[in-house]
Amino acid sequence: MKLLHLDASSLGQHSVSRELTTAIVAQLAQEHPALEVTYRDLTAQPLPHWAPVVDAESEAAKLGEAVMDEFLAADIVVIGAPMYNFSIPSQLKAWIDRVVVAGKTFRYGASGVEGLLKNKKVFIASSRGNVYAAGSPAAALEHHESYLTGVLSFIGLTDVTIVRAEGLALGTEAREASMLKARANIAAMAA
Ligand SMILES: Cc1cc2nc3c(=O)[nH]c(=O)nc-3n(C[C@H](O)[C@H](O)[C@H](O)COP(=O)(O)O)c2cc1C
Repeated sequence: MKLLHLDASSLGQHSVSRELTTAIVAQLAQEHPALEVTYRDLTAQPLPHWAPVVDAESEAAKLGEAVMDEFLAADIVVIGAPMYNFSIPSQLKAWIDRVVVAGKTFRYGASGVEGLLKNKKVFIASSRGNVYAAGSPAAALEHHESYLTGVLSFIGLTDVTIVRAEGLALGTEAREASMLKARANIAAMAA
């Protein structure tokens, strides 16, 4: 079984999403002892913005192919997704631009768009400073989890588990409560 682990936070060892993806991967490795993990740090090694391939032998073309191949090969994808300005970091968007590709992960047909991926499980470690629950004052600015789950569903991936730590900027108590809940949710995944 293959797992692709992606991180996109710029906060290094202070990152909440990185802590959560690490815990999710460790939990999954316990459940699947033969798990093969591929790690891509989208901040340490940012992907260039998408551009048409003019030379199939270029480094950029080869990198794009490698990113797509490791995504297609993965049975499980774990995505660290901090909220930056109400959406995902541009580093993660650059990865999405490489894997949402007509003819590879979705296609246009007579009856509309069809996602071509099946049988992959996705885990999203979502971290954000504020709270975006339905009915909360900032709910209308939630273009983060909704965007990610929307784009994943577009390419056929609907088995998505979100581990969320939010309200992280709303004081020590709110932060600690949210982190405790997120860690407990990861521990409960084994059950
Ligand atoms: C550049 C930047 C933009 C941010 N924008 C938002 C935002 O729009 N809404 C929000 O709730 N939190 C925002 N935050 C707070 C982060 O979502 C929060 O610090 C979270 O923990 C980031 O994940 P990380 O710890 O894995 O880096 C922002 C943080 C940074 C650094």
